[in-house]
Amino acid sequence: MSESQAAQQAPDAAESTVVVSGIQPSGALHLGNYFGAIRQHIELHRKHEAYFFIVNYHALTSVQDAEVLREHTLNVALDYLALGFDPDEACLFVQSDVPEHTELAWILYNLTPVSRLEKGVSYKEKIAQGLAPNAGLLNYPVLQAADILIYGGTRVPVGADQKQHIEITRDLARRFNRVYAEGDDPVFPVPEAHILNDVAVVPGTDRDDQGRPRKMSKSYGNTIGIFDEGEALKDKVMGITTDSVPLADPMPTEGDNVFSLIKLFADDEKQNEIAEKYRHSDYGYGHAKKELLAMIEDEFAEARARRKELEQRPDYVRDVLREGAQQARRRAKRYMERVREAVGLNY
Ligand code: TRP
Repeated sequence: MSESQAAQQAPDAAESTVVVSGIQPSGALHLGNYFGAIRQHIELHRKHEAYFFIVNYHALTSVQDAEVLREHTLNVALDYLALGFDPDEACLFVQSDVPEHTELAWILYNLTPVSRLEKGVSYKEKIAQGLAPNAGLLNYPVLQAADILIYGGTRVPVGADQKQHIEITRDLARRFNRVYAEGDDPVFPVPEAHILNDVAVVPGTDRDDQGRPRKMSKSYGNTIGIFDEGEALKDKVMGITTDSVPLADPMPTEGDNVFSLIKLFADDEKQNEIAEKYRHSDYGYGHAKKELLAMIEDEFAEARARRKELEQRPDYVRDVLREGAQQARRRAKRYMERVREAVGLNY
């Protein structure tokens, strides 16, 4: 988006689509992240006015090592740029570079019942995983609501696990408008969740207790990194859990991790071709894994080369983030002005 375009987008141009999404800086991105979200983010950022930010404030709920946080933050930016995010098309920036996020969050806290937050599915899950139940974790969804509303976001591309957070955001938008806005002049549009998870189920490299493939997830340690390469990549792919079927017997494609992963990369024709091979006697899981490996290498070859190039230009990456934040902030400030006026913070 050009600067003049950004300047023309009045806060009340709410009819047009404004895409907003936060990205967790949680370490090396994997195929599950790619097919589950990143690919669609990259697609969406070209089609609409869009604000994508790395949520380092949210990350404080789980990362308390400054070096790690810095590193993960820059790494996600590198990943997105390498995978095709074009900073001329939309804003990519770091959440904490736009302080209006936290400023709006404070105002929204006062419209949020604590009981609602205590019932949060994600909050309860994170506590079960051992995170400290501090106020940051409890209030996480309110900051997320501020992230979205501060840009007048209308569409939020997220995984299905974020549904409840978007519900809270919608309620806060309505509540703010009801409490503070003049009748037919609402401050915030009520955003829609654009759920991405259904697009692709990405199995990891292992199976659960019942021998069924399970979701690729960092917490299961069954991931294949988008930027893994060489031996590391090969070891992961060749190590994918499969049934043991004698080479002479046909292999089932249903419930096979390798085939499910192949499906993500191959077009219909190629899928049929490989499914056919699965039924033949001279084709085993080793062969299928080699095909998968070649597909992964092929799919990400360009992004990997680009990432190496970007790694040599950390100043360029910082510039992109800084400019992204500047542009985003212009919009955030206009919303914040309306909020201050509506709430009575200006005097
Ligand atoms: N909670 C989201 C996640 O875990 C990340 C996030 C933070 C977010 N702020 C957001 C997503 C705003 C969408 C919009 O994935």
